[in-house]
Amino acid sequence: MPTAVDELTSLESTGLAELQHCGDEASLRSWNAKYFGDKGAMKAALAVIGKVPKEERAAYGQEANRVKVALESAYEALFERAKEAAMLAGLSADPLDVSLPGRVVRRGKLHPATQILREIYAVFADMGFQVYRSREIESDEFNFELLNMPAHHPARDMWDTFFTETPGQVLRTHTSPGQIHVLREFAPNPVRVILPGMCYRNEAISTRSEIQFLQVEGLVVGEGVTMADLKGTLTAFARRMFGEERQIRIRSSYFPFTEPSIEVDIDWPKDDPNRDRLTKGTGWLEILGAGMVHPNVLRAGGYDPDQVTGFAFGMGPQRMLMLKRAIDDIRLFWGNDLRFLQQF
Ligand code: PHE
Repeated sequence: MPTAVDELTSLESTGLAELQHCGDEASLRSWNAKYFGDKGAMKAALAVIGKVPKEERAAYGQEANRVKVALESAYEALFERAKEAAMLAGLSADPLDVSLPGRVVRRGKLHPATQILREIYAVFADMGFQVYRSREIESDEFNFELLNMPAHHPARDMWDTFFTETPGQVLRTHTSPGQIHVLREFAPNPVRVILPGMCYRNEAISTRSEIQFLQVEGLVVGEGVTMADLKGTLTAFARRMFGEERQIRIRSSYFPFTEPSIEVDIDWPKDDPNRDRLTKGTGWLEILGAGMVHPNVLRAGGYDPDQVTGFAFGMGPQRMLMLKRAIDDIRLFWGNDLRFLQQF
C-alpha cells in the first residue's frame, strides 16, 4: 500500500509528464488550472495534510513543498518559452512592414489676419513698442468723450456706432479709446505701445468695408516727441512692411484727438500691374490716420501737455495685407472660405 508521501511523488511525475505534452500557451494554462487552480491537485494535496498520520506528517509537509516548487518552476520555464515562441511565430507569420508610408497629418495654419498682425508686431517690437490690449466694448466716454468728442460733437459722425443694450456702452469704433487706458495706466511715465484689436462700425458691407475689422493703434508719449518722430517711425514701418524703396506721403487731415492730424499714403511700386486699380490711378495708397496727441487727450490720460508731447496713429492691417497680396475683397477675411484661407 503506497504511503501519502509516495502519492505526492507520483503526483509530481504525472504532473511533469503531462506538462511535457503542453505545446502552447493555452494547454499550459489549463495544466496550471488542473494543478494549481482552486480545485487543483496540488491544492488538494496540501489540504489533506491534517489527515496524514502523525508520524508521516513532517515528511509529507516537506515533500509537498518540494513537489509544489518543482511543478511551479517547470511550469514557469515552459510558459516563458511558449510565450516567446508564440511571439516569434507571430512576427514571422505577419511581419511588420515599416516601409508603408505614414498617414499625413494635416497641419493647421494661422489665419491671414493673425499673420499680418504678427508681422506688424515684429516691426514695432524692433522699434521698442510694447503690445497692449484693451477692451472691445467701451463706454461712450472712452470711445468719444475722452478723445475730445463731447456728446453731439459733429465728428462723432465719422464713426457709425453700434450701441449695446446697456446704456452708454458701445462696440468700439476704433482702437483709439485704448490710448486713454494706456495713458492712465502709465502716467506720468513715457509711453511707446501699439494696441491691436477688433473694431466695429455700422457700415454698409462692401468689398472695401466690413462691420468688423482690425486696427492697430500706436501711441508714443514723452518729453520732446515731435512730428519728425512720427514721420520717421511711419517711414521706417512702411519700408519694413512694403519694401526699402517705398516713399510715404503725408496729407493734412482732421481727427478730434490729434492736432495737427495727418493721413499717410505709401507709393505703390511702378512695375506692379495692379498699381492703377489699387491706387485709383494716383500711385498712392492711404494706409493710416495719425497726428500729434491733442492736449485734451493727454490731460484726460493724466499727463501735463506742457511737460510732454506725443504722437498716435491708427492703421488697418487687413488693408495692408490686401495691398501686399492683391486681395480685392475685404469680406474674404471673415468668410471662412478655405479656398481663400489656404493660400496663406
Ligand atoms: N482712430 C482713427 C480712425 O479710426 C485713426 C487715428 C488713430 C487717427 C490715431 C489719429 C490717431 O479713423
